[in-house]
Amino acid sequence: MTPRGTALVTGASSGIGAAVAAALVERGYRVYGTSRDPASVTDPAPGVEYLALDLTDDASIEACAAAAGAVDVLVNNAGESQNGPLEELPMEALERLFRLNVLGAVRLTQLLLPGMRARRRGRVVMIGSMLASFPLAYRSSYVASKAAIKGFANAARREVAPYGVGITTVEPGSINTGISERRTQYVADDSPYLAEYRTMLAALNANEAKGIPARRVAATVVRATEAARPRPLYAVGSNAPVVFALRRLLPRSAVERMVARRHGLR
Ligand SMILES: NC(=O)c1ccc[n+]([C@@H]2O[C@H](COP(=O)([O-])OP(=O)(O)OC[C@H]3O[C@@H](n4cnc5c(N)ncnc54)[C@H](OP(=O)(O)O)[C@@H]3O)[C@@H](O)[C@H]2O)c1
Repeated sequence: MTPRGTALVTGASSGIGAAVAAALVERGYRVYGTSRDPASVTDPAPGVEYLALDLTDDASIEACAAAAGAVDVLVNNAGESQNGPLEELPMEALERLFRLNVLGAVRLTQLLLPGMRARRRGRVVMIGSMLASFPLAYRSSYVASKAAIKGFANAARREVAPYGVGITTVEPGSINTGISERRTQYVADDSPYLAEYRTMLAALNANEAKGIPARRVAATVVRATEAARPRPLYAVGSNAPVVFALRRLLPRSAVERMVARRHGLR
């Protein structure tokens, strides 16, 4: 074992996960990264060992946890970005999203916590989204999934703290990872919401393209991982310090209007 221990980063084939995996290698961890299909990873992060993981499949989660063995740092990063008016989101799309963004991450955490507890050290980082703190129209399923994973982290933190295990959430803002191209979208061609939806989407994609690089999120994840007492919540990108300060000062309805306006919605 390396001096710093072993890290497992889900969804390390691209974007934030690849950057986090690379940063943890640089910090001296042995790093496992995951992909549904490790053989297809075109730009593997240097020094990262890839394992197969499909978070919508229980058997795959169990096999991945077994293959990783003793894990000191788990970064639950893999996720789907889903869009659409609430009225039009198909149930199967919602179920897949919650299996991937919430329940799969929870299951993997359940499998790795006993080892962390026994060794009396461990860190679990949930990659949430600033949208969980700043909800946006036409993103209800994604917002709810990121709020749900933060809820698991917030409530379970006290359970595992006496065992030297820290659970924290990192909320990225707009990060330039190309996630816009991989976003799943559910809106009918004759939807009454179509015009507004398109306005929101154009702003969302433009914000992502102007977003900060994934390595900035990785630096925050490293900070959360290495803190003696990790904070419950870290946020990075989209002017996080300023907008979280405004969120504390302004009424909730004013914050909702601010977020809507940033996405072209009056
Ligand atoms: N980019 C942003 O602006 C932004 C903002 C806030 C939060 N986030 C969150 O940050 C995380 C990473 O986002 P990103 O922008 O880096 O996106 P990304 O490049 O699309 O990465 C998503 C990762 O999830 C993995 N994945 C997809 N479906 C999976 C499944 N069923 N089982 C296991 N892994 C699966 C993918 O791996 P394979 O396809 O190789 O399996 C990929 O590595 C996500 O949770 C996202 O919601 C991103």
